Amino acid sequence: MPVEYVTDSKTQWIADEIAALKEQGLFNTIRTVESAMDAHIVIDGRHVINMCANNYLGLANHPRLKEAAKRAIDQWGIGPGAVRSIAGTMSLHVQLEKRLAEFKHAEAVITFQSGFNANLATIPALVGKGDVIFSDQLNHASIIDGCRLSRATIVAYEHNNVDNLRRKIAETSEYGRRIIITDGVFSMDGDIAPLPELYEVAREHEILLMVDDAHGEGVLGRGGRGIVDHFDLHGKVDIEVGTMSKAFGVVGGIVAGKQVIIDWLRQRGRPFLFSSAMTVPDVAACLEAVDILEQSDELVTRLWSNADFFKQEMKTLGFDIGSSVTPIVPVMLGEAPVAQEFSRKLLEKGVFAMAIGYPTVPKGKARIRVMNSAAHSQNDLEQALAAFESVGKELGVI
Ligand SMILES: Cc1ncc(COP(=O)(O)O)c(C=O)c1O
Repeated sequence: MPVEYVTDSKTQWIADEIAALKEQGLFNTIRTVESAMDAHIVIDGRHVINMCANNYLGLANHPRLKEAAKRAIDQWGIGPGAVRSIAGTMSLHVQLEKRLAEFKHAEAVITFQSGFNANLATIPALVGKGDVIFSDQLNHASIIDGCRLSRATIVAYEHNNVDNLRRKIAETSEYGRRIIITDGVFSMDGDIAPLPELYEVAREHEILLMVDDAHGEGVLGRGGRGIVDHFDLHGKVDIEVGTMSKAFGVVGGIVAGKQVIIDWLRQRGRPFLFSSAMTVPDVAACLEAVDILEQSDELVTRLWSNADFFKQEMKTLGFDIGSSVTPIVPVMLGEAPVAQEFSRKLLEKGVFAMAIGYPTVPKGKARIRVMNSAAHSQNDLEQALAAFESVGKELGVI
């Protein structure tokens, strides 16, 4: 049922904007999920295959994580009580940071409530007014917001274009401190930052290098150790941001790097100082996720083999799936209304895969973003492919 808004002279413009979004096919209808987040979920009372969660390893509903969270609640309760710098930090949080540092072969780690907060904490703590940030044009919104909060000058360079970055650095003569910031995996296209080349530029010019590996955490590198491990750049990338909301199946932000930077973030990272920490069940579940990843790379291997199969079959069917080199599959559909209609029809056929349009991706580049998961069975993938084929033919996309 369409909502009838009650507005007045101060709020009518919002209703007008919402009506315009609906007219352009850009209004985001958020589906209600009536089950645990897994390979199969329940939407509107129907069981459907879930092809759009960031639950890469199927850990969001994993029995071991659930048990760990329950055990921790019995021992530690639920909440951290206050911000860590005021009420003290639980040894559980300290343990998670230590385990993550070991897992990632980093000197030290600090955790935040989310990956978004990790960026809002880190960037303004490292650069400010009079400093310069070189930022990939397609960086995630949380990096963009962190850059804006810092009040440093933001110089955007062309996406993944190291020559363009070099030119921008050469053209920028007035600066205090400098930092290069890039996504590790670009979440809308599934391509990867050229981190070894970025490291060379950063090293030559003595500029800090920061990578946000939200979609590489648990996915790239040996046993899911992330993009720094993938390129064997340990100790060379200054700051590696990550999240435990995707492959780890829980929630929480990570910053890994040199001890001096991590200690500084405990003093100056505003979401650390002014917002309470991750809750007990979150931390305990993340610790269990680290255990699982350290014990075996089985889930990571299954994720990649599912993704390879799905991508190959989609190409054979004739879909344009962009230039992804990760388990993210952008199914390019052009205009937003086509993508929305495609998504609706997929759902009718038992496949949940959301359409993504402007402003998350540029206008005219709407898509369905398929997220592969280790939780999918071969049968799930085949059913999803059959649904894509049928809707693709019906809408004249293939
Ligand atoms: C590159 C990047 N950074 C940060 C985030 C935010 O992570 P979180 O959900 O933990 O806040 C995302 C999530 O979409 C992301 O893709």
